[in-house]
Amino acid sequence: MNVATLARLAASRQIPLLLSLGRGLVTPVYRASFLAAASGSGVLRRLAAGPGDVDALAAAAGVHDDRHLLRAWLDVGVRLGELAVDDGRYRLRSRTAKALARPGNDAVAAALEEVARFHLPVLLGAPAMAADGRRLSLGDQDGAVIARSTRVVEPFVAEAVGRVLSRTAPLRLLEVGCGSGAHVRHAARLNPRLTALAIDLQDEVAAGAAANMAAWGLRERVEVRRADVRELEEQPQFDLATMHNNIYYFPVEERAKVLERVRSLLAPGGRLLLTAPCRGGNVGMEVLDLWFRYADFGGPLPHAADLAAQMEDAGFTGVRARRLIPGEQFRAFVGTNRATASGIDVEERIS
Ligand SMILES: C[S@@+](CC[C@H](N)C(=O)[O-])C[C@H]1O[C@@H](n2cnc3c(N)ncnc32)[C@H](O)[C@@H]1O
Repeated sequence: MNVATLARLAASRQIPLLLSLGRGLVTPVYRASFLAAASGSGVLRRLAAGPGDVDALAAAAGVHDDRHLLRAWLDVGVRLGELAVDDGRYRLRSRTAKALARPGNDAVAAALEEVARFHLPVLLGAPAMAADGRRLSLGDQDGAVIARSTRVVEPFVAEAVGRVLSRTAPLRLLEVGCGSGAHVRHAARLNPRLTALAIDLQDEVAAGAAANMAAWGLRERVEVRRADVRELEEQPQFDLATMHNNIYYFPVEERAKVLERVRSLLAPGGRLLLTAPCRGGNVGMEVLDLWFRYADFGGPLPHAADLAAQMEDAGFTGVRARRLIPGEQFRAFVGTNRATASGIDVEERIS
């Protein structure tokens, strides 16, 4: 480097700023995006089984023709330090890549995909969407990825399910928006006499849940159906209804009506257990809130007090809310169907 170049560098204010952005901001975004794509494409899972050449990784990722393009992307992964390559065979290198590749961490890998594929676009696109009126739709999500990523809170939902579920009596469960079906599996394990109807709005999600039920040996006890709860025609037969992580898929002004509809499917004295991230949580939850504010369906994450009031408006009594994760705004809400066997609701009878 000659003296003139050195002098230009020393005088530049932009180059040091760019270099510091590169280290502090840009490289982490590149790494996150690369790992999210490695997870979503099946490359991480393939490499968890051992090193593979570009042909093996192309087969895992469903790449048929443009292997040179896949190789270029893999080589950026090497440059970022996520992968290494020896004699044309790629392997996992970073601790993060190795951890995400473990099957037990699939929900975390899916959460990273959710951040890269849905959270970053809404952060990038919000001002333009606010300007031109464009909105996100359900098709801008990937239901299968969301069904996997929401499993990060599975232990906390499981604890809430365990608190409301009778262990011995025969029980009919309705799960609304079942995702992977993991919470129904947990309920079925707790009560061997439980049978369930699990519904989900999205075809591919319902199909995934049905496949899971079969793999878990629950096909006889759990019916999985693609259905919109707002149109579900069923007798008021359910002892327990559960809605986990989906109240924000409904606009605020529709929520009491949806909850009333769920109540109408409950047997007298039946209960609703609803779990949801509420406003004021960690920044990831605030970006989720942003995503749903920009959606042409759904709405913001609920304020805990508003959601409890909506349950009461929908005819639930004894509504109680509880925090499920210390320091976080992830909460469980439980209420009881006030309708009695006579069909007259408790408040009418009293008055
Ligand atoms: C974030 S996912 C949560 C999945 C699962 N409950 C869990 O906690 O792992 C929300 C799910 O609710 C479903 N959903 C949204 N609106 C629905 C509706 N109107 N009827 C039935 N399911 C719905 C979505 O299709 C999606 O799979």
